[in-house]
Amino acid sequence: MARESHLLHIRSRILLRLAKSHGLSNGDLVQSFREILAACAQTLHVSRVGIWMYAQKKAAIRCVASYSVNRTDFVADAELLQTQFPIYFEALDTERVIAAHDAHTNPYTSEFTETYLKPLGISSMLDAPIRWEGAMIGVVCCEHTGPARNWTAEEEYFLGSITDFITLAIELWKRKNIENQLNIVNEQLEQKVHERTQQLEHSNEELKRFAYAASHDLREPLRTIMGFAQLLERHIADKLDDAGREYMRYITNGTQNMSNLVKELLNYSRMTTIIDEDYVDLDCEDLIGHITAGLRRQLIESEAAINFPAIHIVLYGIRSQILRLFQNLISNAIKFVPRGQTPQINLSCLDMGSYWQFAIADNGIGIAPEYSEQIFTLFKRLHTKTEYGGSGIGLALCKRIVEQHGGRIWVKSQLGQGSTFYFTLAKRP
Ligand SMILES: Nc1ncnc2c1ncn2[C@@H]1O[C@H](COP(=O)(O)OP(=O)(O)OP(=O)(O)O)[C@@H](O)[C@H]1O
Ligand SMILES: [Mg+2]
Repeated sequence: MARESHLLHIRSRILLRLAKSHGLSNGDLVQSFREILAACAQTLHVSRVGIWMYAQKKAAIRCVASYSVNRTDFVADAELLQTQFPIYFEALDTERVIAAHDAHTNPYTSEFTETYLKPLGISSMLDAPIRWEGAMIGVVCCEHTGPARNWTAEEEYFLGSITDFITLAIELWKRKNIENQLNIVNEQLEQKVHERTQQLEHSNEELKRFAYAASHDLREPLRTIMGFAQLLERHIADKLDDAGREYMRYITNGTQNMSNLVKELLNYSRMTTIIDEDYVDLDCEDLIGHITAGLRRQLIESEAAINFPAIHIVLYGIRSQILRLFQNLISNAIKFVPRGQTPQINLSCLDMGSYWQFAIADNGIGIAPEYSEQIFTLFKRLHTKTEYGGSGIGLALCKRIVEQHGGRIWVKSQLGQGSTFYFTLAKRP
């Protein structure tokens, strides 16, 4: 009794050691099998233990790993056919454990006597099926040489635990494989995203450089046209009739418009290609003072009233850009009013914690809600030049500036009911 409990204790310790083995924790199938088989052979004192897996759609079993006490290497080659050993194959399907005390006479294993048992000197066999997700996938075979031995119930139970370890090793190996594949796919994806981002950044840079260079180079020939048109006007104005003078005016007005447009386009592309200023603290009242001074002529002509409660706010941004932002929005608010109406403009600002939210409300002609996104795109205008002047760059520029400062811009308006433009600016980080 004492001997049995001592054996039980030893076997439990061996199982515990297996549970913590490197092969299992690394999902390394070959190493796991080696550790499991070695533990099994040494614990049950058998000369050879092998793992045999079903092959050829269960028409054969193939040895995938084996451990011999007299040999240190693992043989994994042999294959047994169902047609040669039909009774053994049937027993695999029906029996929990095949405990052949005398393998030569046992009904399930006697088939092996001449071809297998005698040549290898095997006297007793203890085999247990390996199950995976409810189905039989193979068998673990213990082969004893020397005098035949009686397998104890406890030894049969121990072999059952060994098959559990084999299925666990297979499961961990499969999981490891899936993990590895996922990691590879992930790495490939990350690499692709990185490459695409680089390509995008590169083509973006190219585009910006192109827009800058194009608009810069366009100014030169334009200046020539304008210069010669003015010369022509001066020299031959008295020789022209009314129609001729009108055509002349079209030429000079057209070139002037084009020159303004190119200038604005240049400003627009400069905004992100050339930033030669730093982010600084900007006193809001000081900014508004500057802007109203710059828009003096427009303000006087339109008799516009700007209302901005004197709050001490310090913004953080690129001075020239923030000036442009306010300037464009205020000049739109002055410009887009029905004829004969005095512009009323209300500026306000809310502290939203990490950012400021500005609102510039006017009493102008308003914007139909379906255009509330489009007006921020380059050259989008809702009116002809004769109704309201401009080149359609102002709001696109505002959007770029705000986004460059980590904010966003939007409008709330109804046709004929004035507009309120909102934008946010992040506070100093
Ligand atoms: N406050 C406003 N009220 C009504 N419509 C507006 C207002 N601001 C802008 N819009 C509409 O949005 C269009 C785009 O504005 P944006 O400032 O980009 O161009 P613009 O003022 O026409 O030209 P630019 O600003 O380049 O001189 C305007 O043409 C106008 O139709
Ligand atoms: Mg404008």
